[in-house]
Amino acid sequence: MKHFDVMISEQEIDNKVEEVAAKISSDFEGESVVVIGVLTGAFIFTADLVRSLTVPVETVDFVQVSSYEGDKSTGKLVFKKDISTDIEGKNVLIVEDIIDTGRTLKQLKQMFLERNPKSIKICTAFDKPSRRVTDLVPDYNCFTIPDKFIVGYGLDYDGKYRDYKDVRIVRTDDE
Ligand code: IMP
Ligand code: MG
Repeated sequence: MKHFDVMISEQEIDNKVEEVAAKISSDFEGESVVVIGVLTGAFIFTADLVRSLTVPVETVDFVQVSSYEGDKSTGKLVFKKDISTDIEGKNVLIVEDIIDTGRTLKQLKQMFLERNPKSIKICTAFDKPSRRVTDLVPDYNCFTIPDKFIVGYGLDYDGKYRDYKDVRIVRTDDE
């Protein structure tokens, strides 16, 4: 049987998102940002974050990517859905649900850098640094978590549980 143990409450998430949004707003003072959420997991975090930013949000766009399954170690990233925004000369804020190995964001950042933005920053709701196989470090992170599989606040297990307002660790009986 699977258990879902609450790890982070809705209130804790709300508070932390406010705090991170305030930090971003102060770092970007006098500038505007293009916010790009990574589908599907980041849809809730993106919605919360943009409403808490106090700097002008030029636009909100979404990208969806997948890596070729053939060779996991080199897994080349491809767009399932590209953004429709021209980011040349813009301050880009990529919003992700969780960074695990870091492969996804490492490649995505590189792909966006080729479009000559003014700057690119990465903001993630959750970070699992112990799982990293790349040198990717997020510029903004709400919660550093241990090597556990979590769901809720946009994150899924087999497409499910994205709607949970809190974050829960998925655990099987023998764990
Ligand atoms: P990576 O950083 O390229 O390894 O991939 C990160 C992606 O893996 C995230 O965007 C999620 O889709 C997925 N992922 C990693 N850890 C979890 C988890 O604990 N729960 C749900 N999805 C996860
Ligand atoms: Mg994802």
